[in-house]
Amino acid sequence: MIFRKATMADVPQMYRLINEYARQGLMLRRPLMQLYESVRDFCVAENGLGGEVVATGGLHVLWHDLAEIRSLSVRPDLKGRGIGRGLVHFMLDEARQLGIARVFAFTYNRVFFEKCGFTVVKKETLPQKVWKECIYCDKFHSCDEIAVIRHLAPVAAAAEGEIPLVDVPRWTVD
Ligand SMILES: CC(C)(COP(=O)(O)OP(=O)(O)OC[C@H]1O[C@@H](n2cnc3c(N)ncnc32)[C@H](O)[C@@H]1OP(=O)(O)O)[C@@H](O)C(=O)NCCC(=O)NCCS
Repeated sequence: MIFRKATMADVPQMYRLINEYARQGLMLRRPLMQLYESVRDFCVAENGLGGEVVATGGLHVLWHDLAEIRSLSVRPDLKGRGIGRGLVHFMLDEARQLGIARVFAFTYNRVFFEKCGFTVVKKETLPQKVWKECIYCDKFHSCDEIAVIRHLAPVAAAAEGEIPLVDVPRWTVD
């Protein structure tokens, strides 16, 4: 199995995977346009033999120290083979490279995320900006997902709006 960033060619299959689970009420529906617009958030698992995309997930950055794992979907007949965990680790590595201290998800699958090193937290402990997408959810008034979080680095006591916690390359423009 190869884990890699998504490309435009992957989007139709990502659309099928995500929206099949959305129909089952397990995640938010993602229109094609939104997937094309946010393709840089997404990674995929590609079957090494046929090159077919069999799983996808998105890492969406919300703030200097916070990102969300979204739309994590493994093809139903390939569940339980470590593909979901592989994608989560791929996204956690990406978050580390970006210098993001915390990654969270809303989910119904507590055990899977615990096995990926996340812990359950009260939803109310997350900052307000994480609720932005909830207005698109049918369960807006009766949310039954749980929140899970994984800390990748100590969260510095930086006030909102301060510069990121890591050294980033800096460019100058003449
Ligand atoms: C949740 C999902 C992404 C997990 O992917 P997966 O490839 O099946 O999971 P993995 O094989 O990597 O499992 C990793 C571990 O979690 C466990 N696990 C996965 N799903 C589980 C479940 N529903 N209940 C209990 N344990 C589960 C596995 O047994 C494995 O444990 P192990 O380390 O002891 O072997 C996948 O089942 C899926 O696409 N589900 C439908 C959509 C969904 O709910 N997505 C999450 C939304 S945030």
